[in-house]
This record gives sequence, structure tokens and C-alpha cells, in this order.
Amino acid sequence: MGIEDRQGYTFFDDAWDVMKAYKFEGVEGDDFDDIRPNLDSVMAQFDAWRADQGDKPELRKPTVKFAGRNRKKPLRQMMLEGSGGPNILMQRVPGLRDRSLGGLPQILNWWGGKQQLGPYFREMFHPYRETHIPYEAFGGSLSMLNALNSPQGIATDINPDPINVGRMAQIGLNVPSFGPVDERGVPVNTKEALQDIVDRANAIRYKRDILGEELSLDEKMRLAELFTSANSRAFQGHMNYKNTPEWNKGFGIMKPGLRKVTGGRGEPSIPMDFRAMAPLMRNWDLRTQPMQDVSRELNERDDIFSYYDPPYAKRTFSYGDKSTADEEDQLQADTLSAAIASQGPVVYSNYLVDPDSREVLHGITDTLLDEGFDIHPWPRNIKTSKEGGKNVIEMLATRDIDWPGMGRKKRFSRGSWKDLLSEYPTLGDFVND
Ligand SMILES: C[S@@+](CC[C@H](N)C(=O)[O-])C[C@H]1O[C@@H](n2cnc3c(N)ncnc32)[C@H](O)[C@@H]1O
Repeated sequence: MGIEDRQGYTFFDDAWDVMKAYKFEGVEGDDFDDIRPNLDSVMAQFDAWRADQGDKPELRKPTVKFAGRNRKKPLRQMMLEGSGGPNILMQRVPGLRDRSLGGLPQILNWWGGKQQLGPYFREMFHPYRETHIPYEAFGGSLSMLNALNSPQGIATDINPDPINVGRMAQIGLNVPSFGPVDERGVPVNTKEALQDIVDRANAIRYKRDILGEELSLDEKMRLAELFTSANSRAFQGHMNYKNTPEWNKGFGIMKPGLRKVTGGRGEPSIPMDFRAMAPLMRNWDLRTQPMQDVSRELNERDDIFSYYDPPYAKRTFSYGDKSTADEEDQLQADTLSAAIASQGPVVYSNYLVDPDSREVLHGITDTLLDEGFDIHPWPRNIKTSKEGGKNVIEMLATRDIDWPGMGRKKRFSRGSWKDLLSEYPTLGDFVND
């Protein structure tokens, strides 16, 4: 069969998949240096954009086929228009009416901001939808479970606060505005109001974490409301936890991070009714155990689709050499072990390149490559409290996941064999079987 006769690209893609581990914008290689020039050019575009010398790079375009239909308006705007009622969510978020149409809304803003990956997660999970249960090992705001909108789901996070929000959303979460209103009746986000909300949340948390008391359902619900409200009023949702002599257990006392400013970054203190989500999340298994324990249990099974989104690695380390490992290295190593041990398909995210030294985190990447993962670089700009945010190169490492990869566009259109062959003449021998 001649090359011209081939329909599609399956043979070539499969063969290439086996051979090459790094993939970026249609360029693939065994070594990070093979794709580095392309990544550098994207990072240069980001740097230019930050310096006001160019447009913001258009980064990723999920294929239309599986992408959830995105909401046209931000949640905040929808909630305002609907006066906080659940109907507005039902009307505007297709995934609430039909799981196949898209994901569920994010209740919390959480570290990592992986909600942008929702359409990709849906695409990756598509072949496994009928057979596998998604598992989010670093649950946080449940961004993967929300995106997949699957009837079954498992997530864990050692921080009980976001998990409590998830559990209360399973029952029906309706967050009041908690706070003063302006002359138009719109709640405002004053410093005092935010502090008051956090103080009230801390009073309930103190009972749970320091006194070790079991909270009543009313207290859990009130804590979920207060926590969600504080999260929506703080810039990027950030809360600072601090252990003090009095708060010497659990995560510690919660303090508000930077406040969102009315009229600046937007008015965040509206009532938010998430009750429409409850029936769709009802069967999710939300836990507060360390992921190490949950993964040990779930890695016995072959029907789990796992996602590992650990806190970012701050530097590289030597996987396997435990002698010098500190607590942070240990968590990174445990995460890799758990991801590697999973029997089902698995996704792992982290920095690919140390944002400060711009060195590849080889301790992580080499381990993943040895264990049969593919690495998809993801250059992005992450929001920080500093203007312009930070340009970073993250990775999504996948195993047993058929995924076309990320990138703005393929350097080669998928069917253009002639272009490919002229670029890589030796390929002719390879495909002309
Ligand atoms: C980057 S965030 C995960 C974000 C989440 N995937 C999301 O999209 O919202 C990391 C989370 O890991 C949690 N965490 C840290 N160590 C953990 C452990 N050993 N087991 C489970 N969760 C852990 C933290 O509390 C934090 O919420």
C-alpha cells in the first residue's frame, strides 16, 4: 500500500508514539532538547507579551469533538443575573442537564488552577467513560472530577476544608452573601467582611481540628458556606494557614490572603446557589486520607483512571535516593511511586522546567520516561499577585492515554505526508512497508 493511499494517520502516529516520549506542537523526540527550541520560542512569545511587545500567545485548542461547551459568561456574572438561584446554573451550564455535554462548575478557586484542562480531561477520559472510575489524588477543588462529570468518582485531600465543601455540595450547597451591600443591593467585599467570615469559619474549624469534636451537619454546612464565600472573596482563592501554639494541630488557623477589590478584579461577594450540582455528585467518594493510603488501595484495581496533581516541585531531586529526601521530596517521590503503580490510565502534572533556574526537572521526567509515560509540555502563564503573572513550563505526563497532545497547532498537518517526508527522509523507509 502506498503512502498516498493511507487514510488518516494511525499507523504513523502509533509508531511514532512508541518511539518518542517528548511531544510538543507536532515535534517529538527522545530527549527534551529535541523540543526545547520550540518551547523556547513559545516562552519568548510569552515574555514579549508580558513586556507589552506582542499579543498573548494563543495556546491550546481542544478538539471540538469532545470539548465541553464552555459557558459564555463567568460564574459570577451568571449568579448575579440569576440572583443566585439554581435555575440560572441549570440553564447556562449544559453539563448540569446532561453529563455528556460538559463538566460541572467549579465551586472553589484552588492552587494549580487546572480547570482550564477540563476539555482535555474529558477527551482523555472519553474511551474510559463506560469502564473506569476517575480518581483525583490531590483533590482540592475537584477540578478533574468536575470536568469529567462522571456518575462515579473518588477524590482525596488531606485538607478537610475543600473536601467539606465538596461533601456539602453533594447534599446541596447554597452560599449566602454574608456581608454588607452597596446602594444597588450588591454585596461588597470589604476587608472587615472577609475577616469576619474567616473568623466565623475558624470558630467551627477550631472545634473540629483542635477540640477534636465531630461537627453537626449544620456546622459542616455553615463551614462550607463560609469557606466558599471567603474563597470567592480572596484573590485567587488563597487562604493562608498558620500553625500557632494554640492551633498546633491540623492545618492551623486560616487567614485571608489578598482580598479581591470591588471594581478592580470584580465583585466576588454574591450569593451562590450550587444546589443543582448535588444530584450529579451524589455518588462521589470524597475522602480526607493521605493520597498515599488511598492510592495503595485503588492501585489494586484495574478500573481506575487516576490524576495526580501534587503541589509543584520546587526543585529536582533524586528519585530512589531517600537518604537526602526532606518532607517535600518525599511527597514528590510518593506521588511518582503511586502514579507508576497504577494499573489503569494515569495523568500526572507538575513543573517540567524549574521556573527559577529554567532547568528541566530531570529527577521527575527521567523517572516518568523510564516507566513508560509520555510527557506533554504545557507552557502557560500562571496568575500571581504580581502584575503579568509568571511564565512557566508545566508538563502533563500520561500513560495508557491516547491523546493528541497539547500545543497551539501541529507543525505538520496530520495528513501531510509529503511535508513530513521531506523533513525526515528516513521516515520513507519506515512507513513504506
Ligand atoms: C495543587 S493542589 C491540587 C489541586 C486540585 N487538583 C485542583 O484542581 O483543585 C494540591 C493539593 O494537595 C493536597 N495534598 C498535599 N499533600 C497531600 C497528600 N499526601 N494526600 C492528599 N492530598 C495532599 C493539598 O492539600 C492541596 O489541596
